[in-house]
Order: sequence, then structure tokens, then C-alpha cells
Amino acid sequence: MAPSALLTSLEKEFSVDAKMLLAISREFIRQMEAGLLGQKSSLKMLPSFVGGPTGKERGAVIAVDFGGTNVRILRAELGAGGAVNIAAIDRFPLKDPNGKYDHTGANATAEHLFDCIAERIAKIAPEGKTYKLGHTFSFPCRQLSIDRAVLIHWTKEFKTPGVEGQEIGALLEAALKRRGLDRVVPAAIINDTVGTQLTAAFKDPEVDVGSICGTGHNTCYLEPKHPLGRPMIVNMESGNFDGLTHSKYDAILDKASDRPGAQKLEKMVAGYYLGRLMQTVLRTEARCFANDASAFEKCPVVEGRELDSMIADSGDFPATRAFLKDRLGITAPTSESVFLVQRLAKLLGKRAARLVAGSFAGTIQKIDPEITRRHVIAIDGSLYEKMPNYDANIREALHEMFGQKADRIETVLAKDGSGVGAAIAAAV
Ligand code: GLC
Repeated sequence: MAPSALLTSLEKEFSVDAKMLLAISREFIRQMEAGLLGQKSSLKMLPSFVGGPTGKERGAVIAVDFGGTNVRILRAELGAGGAVNIAAIDRFPLKDPNGKYDHTGANATAEHLFDCIAERIAKIAPEGKTYKLGHTFSFPCRQLSIDRAVLIHWTKEFKTPGVEGQEIGALLEAALKRRGLDRVVPAAIINDTVGTQLTAAFKDPEVDVGSICGTGHNTCYLEPKHPLGRPMIVNMESGNFDGLTHSKYDAILDKASDRPGAQKLEKMVAGYYLGRLMQTVLRTEARCFANDASAFEKCPVVEGRELDSMIADSGDFPATRAFLKDRLGITAPTSESVFLVQRLAKLLGKRAARLVAGSFAGTIQKIDPEITRRHVIAIDGSLYEKMPNYDANIREALHEMFGQKADRIETVLAKDGSGVGAAIAAAV
């Protein structure tokens, strides 16, 4: 296939028009309702046992934010008027960049993983004072109460044995005990989406949806009529939503992943996968690039910052040319190849934002079918924060679906929501 024909085919494979978006949002609502009732659904609809914050939460808390290969620990003070003062912050990788240790791999142990977290907590929590601990644990958990959650299964390609099926709070508590940390008392365990929503709702009570668009993807919302009898934030684990059409490249990526068939939406929209998806397309279609085919066959995983710079590229596409030169060793690409690679980056970024918008549309309509009032979706994550046009693409999709009414739906960045949210949850 000539590059121009490939481009036409990619545009078709990766475009999601307004009609498709509306169909996605309808299917999303259907699965939300089924999941809430405990019927078959790709949306887990996990109760969080947290409602909205009152804004009156106060005091010194430690927050652990564990949801990717970097863990963050915060010591924070909650003050009047939604003020959150972060007194200290520590960040460390669970996977040593030099390969010395990897707490996320198949050879790690749960004990080592949680000991490592407890050790860093010891450093940040001065002696002589008691702290409540809020723990953001951003994986699908069956929540038993605000401070008890059982990991259903790992996502985001984590493999540490001995954690699935276990109570996360108990694993951390045991590690705190081994470290003699009686001054730190676990009080809450929440998902990062819930943390993001809480952080934003702490300041603006009309925030009713929280989402992460980063390495992983997931959304939660405040369900006013929860089957458990009181309004409650529900972690949908929407990265697992399956009401979508796979392109042939999504199917290849899925098959090569740790859990084929799972996390269908996440694999089409999240940072961990987008660079791999681009790699998959370029490798699969390498033969279209004539003399450069062998270089394209070895295309590495495209990094997030590379994807971002290619999306923003214009003119003679210097960022795309730099990618081809530095990472594929192609010094004199045809202008057709450069254009195709740049367009592909844009198509993948745009499709990600539009699919996410389709799920937001379903969520908002589940709460308020006619969109009669203001709604705020609080979003954290590297894609939302850094990917060029990401928010604009979400907004455009909402407008295509809802016309003027889309103006009632606001999207806001809730930076560090997952960490700060754990602090608020501990104090709630
Ligand atoms: C994955 C996890 C989910 C989390 C999301 C964002 O989808 O399963 O719990 O919220 O990543 O970190």
C-alpha cells in the first residue's frame, strides 16, 4: 500500500464520529445501570464508601499515592476554606531505573513492596505525633468499608505476586507494624479517581465526576441514588469498558498484553498504551515505507513526550523528523512518511480524547439525563495535563453530542488530586 492509501485507511480506522460517540454514551449508561445492580457489565461500579467532602475536614495527615511505578508520599495539613498545605513530599520508583530492584515484576514479593512504602512513610512522618493515613491505591478493588479494600486484579501491567485477592490496608498495616510505626494509623483507602473528585469537590461542590487520563484511565462519579442507600462515589473502573469497536491494531496490541480482552477502553486511550499502539501501527505497516521498511519494523515504543511533540508539530514537522532520526535511524525520510507519522500521532491522540468524552457523556447523562444544570468533571493525569489539544478534543466531542448544553459541562484540571484526595479521605 502506498503511504497515501495507508493514511486514508488509518483515518477511517481511528475516527469516531458524533453518531458513534452517542452510541458509546448510550451503551455506557446501560452498562453503568447494569453494574450498579450487580448484573453483567464491563463496568465494575465499585462503591467507595465515600460521599462528597464537607469542606470541614482538618488536621495533619499522611497520604500515600500508589498507582503507577512511582509512589508519592505526602504530609499535609488541611485548613479552612478548602486549603490543603503540603508540608512534605517524597517520590520514589518501585522499579529501579538501573535494574537493581523491581517491586512491580513477577519476581517481587508483597512484603518487600509494602516494606519499601513503610520505610518511606517513616522518613516523612516526624516522631512524637499521630497521623491518619490516607492511601490512594489505583487498581480495581472490592471495597468493604472506607478503610478496607481487596485488590481484584492488577492492571497497568503490574505483576507483583501475593497482592491480588488480598486486603491492601492489611498489607500496609503489617508493614507499618514491622517498622514500629504505631504513630501512623490507616484511615482510608481510595482509588485515584475518587481522590481527584474529592480534591476538586473540596473547593467546588458541583464537581460530580472525577477522572484520570494518564498512564491509566478510569472515571468515578457521585451516584445520588446508590443501591446501598446513600449518595456515594462509585469507581466505575471504566478502563475496562468494552462497548467499543477495535481497529485491527488495537486487536494486535491487546493480544500481546498481559491480560488480553481486559481494559479495552484503557488500551485505546491511556498513556501506557498509546505509544505502544503507535509502535504497533508503524511496525505492522512497515512495508508501506519502501526503503525505510526495515527501520519501521524495529520501531520502539513511542514515549509520551515524543507523541506530544509530534501532535503539536507543524511546518516542516521538525519534531517528527527528530523522532524518525533519533529513534529509527532514518536521516532522509520522504515527506510523505513524515506527514503520515505526524498524522498518526494526531489521530491516536484525538481518538483517545473523543472516546473518553463519550464515556463522560454517558456518566453525566446517567446523573442528569437532560443536562439541566452545571456539572464539573475533575481530571488529573499526564495526558490531560500535557497532551496538545486533549481538552479541546474532549470539548469538541461534547459539543457534537450535546450542542449548546455542552457548555453546562465543565472540565477542569485537578492537579495532584490523587495524593491530596487521599489526605482528604483520611480526614473525612
Ligand atoms: C487503571 C486502574 C484504575 C485507576 C486507573 C488510573 O485503570 O485499574 O483503578 O484508576 O488505572 O490510574
